[in-house]
Amino acid sequence: MLERKVIITGANSGIGKSAAIKFAKEGYMVIMACRNIEISRTAQKEIIEATKNNNVHLMKVDMSSFNSIRTFCSEYKNRFDKVDILIHNAAYINHGEKYQLSPDHIELTFATNVFGPFLMTNLLLDHLKNSDDPRILHAGSNIIKHFFDLKAKISFDNLQGEFKDRRSHSVYKMYCQSKMALLMLTFKMAEEYQNEGIKVNALQINGAKMAKRTINKVKPWWRPIAWVQNLFFPPTSYMANNYFEICTSDLFQNTTGKLINDKLEIMQVTSSEYPGFFKQLKIVLGSRFYPTYAHNDHIMKQLWDLCTKLAVSSPT
Ligand SMILES: NC(=O)c1ccc[n+]([C@@H]2O[C@H](COP(=O)([O-])OP(=O)(O)OC[C@H]3O[C@@H](n4cnc5c(N)ncnc54)[C@H](OP(=O)(O)O)[C@@H]3O)[C@@H](O)[C@H]2O)c1
Repeated sequence: MLERKVIITGANSGIGKSAAIKFAKEGYMVIMACRNIEISRTAQKEIIEATKNNNVHLMKVDMSSFNSIRTFCSEYKNRFDKVDILIHNAAYINHGEKYQLSPDHIELTFATNVFGPFLMTNLLLDHLKNSDDPRILHAGSNIIKHFFDLKAKISFDNLQGEFKDRRSHSVYKMYCQSKMALLMLTFKMAEEYQNEGIKVNALQINGAKMAKRTINKVKPWWRPIAWVQNLFFPPTSYMANNYFEICTSDLFQNTTGKLINDKLEIMQVTSSEYPGFFKQLKIVLGSRFYPTYAHNDHIMKQLWDLCTKLAVSSPT
């Protein structure tokens, strides 16, 4: 096999680290794209020792900062000839924090989970095109189920601090909206890059055991909930295997623009008609359907235009 290269953002802990182990075990060149080099260096060593694959590289990137992403991409392009697989795994998930702005003056959750991945993909497009089977995967979340409530929407009017001190803020809601936005980008990117042969999909993650460090990052009142959830969540290696399957297997070679559940089934959008209480309950509790909001063309265009304006056209 010619050496295949995979970039995994946030590969120093949780699912990202397990994915780095899986890809390294299978002989891939792994680029761990992480913001905290000191902590990530330890993870890198562990991964190399566990897999006996020395081709595990660590590169610094803060996904909430356009400058940092630009630096990462230019260094990557100087060092490596192509990207075969790009996994946008990193996410800002600190429940309970106040409204925070990124270095580019963008709400931190959206900066990290939406605009950052958009910019990185954009800057790596030429390198993705150099691969004979380029695949991008977005780490989604079942939190988007909140959009089965037809009143739910992405608050575009408060992404640059407009109502920072005047509106109540919930990082949980922002996280939910950011994951819906990332899903919408999945569909739009798949369309945009189809002619280039770049496949773009999202995995809906229902839960995976959270690292102690991750739980300690959230506010104290969330921690007991997180610990209880952890009792029922599968190990991170389960989701990492799903990353691997979607990004490498023949089964998904021609799949693009899809949301895939943790049983590796392609999910379907719900019908816009109300199916009745019991069917609706089954839809909300199951993982075969996602909300119609994800295909709202007007919102999709608004999101795409905003990503282009804020991330790609941002001054360097
Ligand atoms: N675990 C679950 O139950 C669950 C459920 C649904 C969806 N997901 C999704 O699955 C993915 C992985 O989650 P996880 O549970 O494995 O979480 P995790 O262990 O907390 O990993 C998140 C990773 O993202 C990195 N990160 C955060 N902000 C960053 C930034 N600005 N720049 C670069 N890296 C950054 C973190 O780095 P630091 O170590 O430096 O903070 C960490 O490596 C996320 O996209 C999450 O939304 C997880």
